[in-house]
Amino acid sequence: MSLHRLRPALLLSASLLAVSPLMVVPQTAHAEAVAPWMDKTLSSDQRVALLLAQMTTEEKRLLVFGYASGDQLTQIDPSVIPGLNTREVVANVIPGSAGYIPGIPRLGIPAQFQTDASMGVRNHLMPRTSLPSSLATAASWDPQVTEAGGRMIGTEARLSGFNIMLAGGINLLREPRNGRNFEYTGEDPLLAAEMGAGLIRGVQSVHVVSTVKHFSINAQETGRTTLSAQISEPALRMSDNLAFELAIERSSPGSVMCSYNKINDVYACENEALLTDTLKRDWGYKGYVMSDWGAVHSTVQAANAGLDQQSGFPFDTQAYFGESLKAALSDGSVPARRLDDMARRILWALIDKGVMDNPVVKGEIDFEAHHRIAQTAAEESLVLLKNDKALLPLLGQKRILLVGSYADKGVLAGGGSSSVSPVGGNAVTGLEPKGWPGPVVWQPSSPLKALQAQLPKARISYLSGDDLNAAARAARSADVVIVFVHQWAGEGFDVSLDLNGQQDELVRAVASANPNTVVVVESGGPVFMPWKDEVRAILSAFYPGARGGEAIARVLSGEVNPSGHLPLTFPASEAQFVHQALPGGDLPPNSSFTVRYTEGAAVGYKWFDLKGYRPLFAFGQGLSYTTFRMDGLKAQAVEGAGERLTIGFTLTNTGAREGKTVGQVYVAAPKSAGWEAPRRLVGFRKLSLSKGQSQTVSLSVDPRLLAVYDEATSEWVIAPGTYEVQLGAASDDIRTRVTVTLAAQRFAARQGKTVP
Ligand code: BGC
Repeated sequence: MSLHRLRPALLLSASLLAVSPLMVVPQTAHAEAVAPWMDKTLSSDQRVALLLAQMTTEEKRLLVFGYASGDQLTQIDPSVIPGLNTREVVANVIPGSAGYIPGIPRLGIPAQFQTDASMGVRNHLMPRTSLPSSLATAASWDPQVTEAGGRMIGTEARLSGFNIMLAGGINLLREPRNGRNFEYTGEDPLLAAEMGAGLIRGVQSVHVVSTVKHFSINAQETGRTTLSAQISEPALRMSDNLAFELAIERSSPGSVMCSYNKINDVYACENEALLTDTLKRDWGYKGYVMSDWGAVHSTVQAANAGLDQQSGFPFDTQAYFGESLKAALSDGSVPARRLDDMARRILWALIDKGVMDNPVVKGEIDFEAHHRIAQTAAEESLVLLKNDKALLPLLGQKRILLVGSYADKGVLAGGGSSSVSPVGGNAVTGLEPKGWPGPVVWQPSSPLKALQAQLPKARISYLSGDDLNAAARAARSADVVIVFVHQWAGEGFDVSLDLNGQQDELVRAVASANPNTVVVVESGGPVFMPWKDEVRAILSAFYPGARGGEAIARVLSGEVNPSGHLPLTFPASEAQFVHQALPGGDLPPNSSFTVRYTEGAAVGYKWFDLKGYRPLFAFGQGLSYTTFRMDGLKAQAVEGAGERLTIGFTLTNTGAREGKTVGQVYVAAPKSAGWEAPRRLVGFRKLSLSKGQSQTVSLSVDPRLLAVYDEATSEWVIAPGTYEVQLGAASDDIRTRVTVTLAAQRFAARQGKTVP
């Protein structure tokens, strides 16, 4: 069963809308009065133990089986699922949502109401506020930005009746063509983890469980349910899994979603090495593993490997954690203690994240306030990539022409399960594909209108750009031309880095007519820019969210000083890709194939460093309307097991106006250290500095960022030697360097254990 074909069919029929899901939110008040596990003075572990002891096997089974929200629920054969009949499920599930797990009212266990995703509440029946794409907010390099965003979308989730948010995509950007790059936080494990963790903390701060995903190596959409990602254990631990490990430590998500793909020939959702050995044993993870929708392929293997909850039935072909789990429990092929463990983990998340103590209550959303949060996130995230002779900000230009990409109407968003229905409606309707993973959504935030409001004295007009000659003619009589280009990406497909249609020709036609050409790029990830040298300024907006138009206008006008930095490398050509041809791209759909991630942990800029490639734009790049000095770099290693490398430096605003910059610290290792590539990002700090202001920063480096993973002993190993510490404003803009000597160190991958 293809997920793509299933999606639209799962949309809920209108007849179901009459039933309020909140009618069945369990009555916790009664349980609170009497139940010892509702005693908030006890630890989450103690409360879970008390509660678990009260549960019957049937009740535990109810917790581990999740339903999708669509019409097909009514067609499920009731004999394959636990407990409830499907009519009850259909009555309670929130229409248009991702999923539902019934509650157990007698014990005060709430139903789990699940909603996508990282940019906001996704539901075609509920217009909600959309943050910029996760790749965009990663460009803020400020976890407080993603945390504020997470709190906002978590609040909307809660006010919409949801208590589980499938938010927190952090897969590393390995494949520039991946259609879901916009849902993730870039190519570096530390940055991806920090930015993802901010979002998760924000969501959970309002008592909504957040789900870090898609665990793991879900790096492309082509063949996502059939491919096997081949990668060595050390490389995995030092790349994608390092991002998950750090994000989990920094945000304690209640849940982890295992991905569709296989890893080294074993499906992620039945992969013991991944779910049990790495996640639960080594990282000491206490929450639960939920499957992606349709990612389960077995009962006994999945349950024993560490999957705790089957999600979104009937996305899977069988109710593996339904009656088949019951049978496996009775013949002992899945031990009873495993079911206890599954239930314990789910209860832990519900209790520890405050879901159980704070039942969801639907309420009104302050969209104006929430849209302002989305706008701030965009303003922190727009990346000024080029600004020759300070063409920007726009000062005093009288005739300004905007061209292309519906810049009169709105800004683009990505497609698929994370696509938020805009408040105010889709600004551009009727584009293909109208069905899954569409519709193509344009947030109704017009850059044209916003710029007109920003610059009331200028004459600002718009042309679609469909007619290249007309665009060039109009460009000739403008003081400055701003061309908007776009790339639509989404779930279930991968993209080309070439802009589609005649967008490249449009930029060239305009630029040759008027040298004062600015290009604003709205994209899911990196794109090629064959016209880079022909235009004076380039602003990367990714998908800038509900108020993206306003944010773009405020940066163009100078009201906001740009401060985003690339969380990814923009390659110059396909020759720089790890895989020149997209793996599986030439195979018929549903073919099984292997993707060999031979670059291992050398992802993104590490690959470019290793190969000596010059990218179009390097990781970390981002310009400002002011200038900064970065100096005073100090590095100190305190010797001894478990001790840390500490870094200090000073940032000074040397320009004429306030602004924000990011001090980025990279470490280069001696060859003998055996790193995957010459350098790694080991720390960063974004600071807001007024004109002339200086501030010192001190950072402590996580030792795993200096180590390699030794599979034979399951240890992290730091090689002794001289390391170079680099401070810069981008990976290709290093301002100062010092060296530091590190002593040999080994420490166990299993947390809390340092090997002497
Ligand atoms: C996506 C997940 C999403 C789930 C539920 C899947 O297709 O891969 O990211 O959370 O659907 O909608």
